[in-house]
Amino acid sequence: MALHAAIVGWGMSVPTRVVTNAELSTMVDTSDEWIQSRTGIKERRIISNGESTSTLATAASRAAMAMAGVQAADIDMVIVATFSPDRPMPATACRVQAALGITNAAAFDIAAACSGFVYGLTVATSLIQSGVAKRILFCAADVVSHYVNWNDRNTCVLFGDGAGAVVLEATDQPYGLLSSDMGAAGDREDLLMVEAGGTCLPLTAEVAASDRRFLSMNGREIFKLAVRGMEESSHAALNKANLTLADMAVVVPHQANQRIIEAIAERLGVPIQKFYMNLERYGNTSAATIPMALTEAVAEGVIHNDTYILLTAFGGGLTWASAVVRWGIPSTRLPITQ
Ligand code: UT7
Repeated sequence: MALHAAIVGWGMSVPTRVVTNAELSTMVDTSDEWIQSRTGIKERRIISNGESTSTLATAASRAAMAMAGVQAADIDMVIVATFSPDRPMPATACRVQAALGITNAAAFDIAAACSGFVYGLTVATSLIQSGVAKRILFCAADVVSHYVNWNDRNTCVLFGDGAGAVVLEATDQPYGLLSSDMGAAGDREDLLMVEAGGTCLPLTAEVAASDRRFLSMNGREIFKLAVRGMEESSHAALNKANLTLADMAVVVPHQANQRIIEAIAERLGVPIQKFYMNLERYGNTSAATIPMALTEAVAEGVIHNDTYILLTAFGGGLTWASAVVRWGIPSTRLPITQ
């Protein structure tokens, strides 16, 4: 019988500090009107002292494990998708593993920027389907603010920090990821990147004092490529699942810009009401946007058991990915530590 990986728990965490558009307009030449009309974003969350990618990831993971009703001993793998790790080494997943007391588990990170959740969901599901793992804690977490140039109005208004996590569990019932389509265009890294801070361009004093350590983006070009990329990838994922857009109860897209999402809806011929959005409160939290949106959509009753949902994302790499998921908890679960 085919093995599947059901999503049996989910959760999210954001920093407590809220940064409104009004606050940003005291820092750069922008306005609440411009940001809302061009992006749909009203506010975002930014970390304070003591918070980091792993603290957000740990809190989101705790919520997902509580929802799944599982203990640390029930998890046999921890994966974190992030482009903003706590440290170059070890993997942020190892720090989350330690913080949660998960002792009998492998732990590693995945770096696919804004596409990280769909990439990671695909990897985690494959590891369960191949029998390598039975129950995986998978978290997507980013502290984008660490790389934001607070003097650059083209980018600083767009991003926020956050984390979303899921618990995936082996089942013979057809829940969880049904299909995924992933792609990359490494030759277009110039359109969206953090140039310095790695081995290619180390953070010397001179580089650290320049803009090269910040996130840079060609917004207009990314906008066009994101709309086209998510449209094509959505079709590819649907075709692989042998399902259509009409079968989807909800589309949960990467939350970068309301206008991007509206353009995708129009190109796909789907009413915008079918797209779940919460970007007005969090901005673009990179890999975390989709699991954060999933968590809130379920809490608001937008996603129900036994419905199909389409996920689609696009971001740095360039990378893109879409997936069809059947939402729901299997009627029988793997044994859980009491
Ligand atoms: O996670 C995936 C990665 N990111 C994305 O998907 C983002 C993709 N891109 C976008 O969302 C949009 O391109 C932006 C929101 C970044 C920009 O929106 P736009 O409608 O493409 O604006 P634009 O770049 O064409 O700029 C229009 C004008 C420019 O002024 P001029 O040259 O026309 O005088 C900008 O300088 O708006 C100006 N501008 C601003 N004005 C006020 C740019 N940023 C701001 C700002 N406040 N924050």
